[in-house]
Amino acid sequence: MKARRLPSAAAAAVVALAALQAQAIQRGDPQAGAERADECIACHGEGGNEPIDPTYPKIGGQHADYLMVMLERYRSGEIQHEIMTNIAEALSDREIRDLSAYFAAQDGDLHTPGRRLP
Ligand code: HEC
Repeated sequence: MKARRLPSAAAAAVVALAALQAQAIQRGDPQAGAERADECIACHGEGGNEPIDPTYPKIGGQHADYLMVMLERYRSGEIQHEIMTNIAEALSDREIRDLSAYFAAQDGDLHTPGRRLP
């Protein structure tokens, strides 16, 4: 009985691990994102929150899915922008996920004007 259970437990563990890995890939790896983020930090600033130009958006602490959607929209051409279109076109799906996970994991400076909590 025991000998029979083990293989199925092992199989279940493999399936669980595979599912976890798939989830990790889909969610993005903030550490891999950090390694790719220098180019972004050049404009969006340290942690994505110190843009070199006041008209450039802060992206640190933003929701990862929002960042992903925006990068995908620049990449697909749905949004045309003289800077971000070129940058996003060079990103793979995986880089988009990793960079989004990285910037989402930074301390946020985002707030709704007039509604900042004390
Ligand atoms: C040369 C400057 C520059 C670089 C480099 C740069 N960005 Fe941007 N980014 C901008 C500007 C300017 C905008 C605002 C574009 C607009 O108005 O649509 C922007 C917008 C964005 C947005 C949308 C933010 C929002 O709130 O809608 C995201 C996400 C983003 N950038 C991520 C990145 C990532 C990730 C990288 C690195 C791979 C990067 N950017 C590199 C200048 C830059």
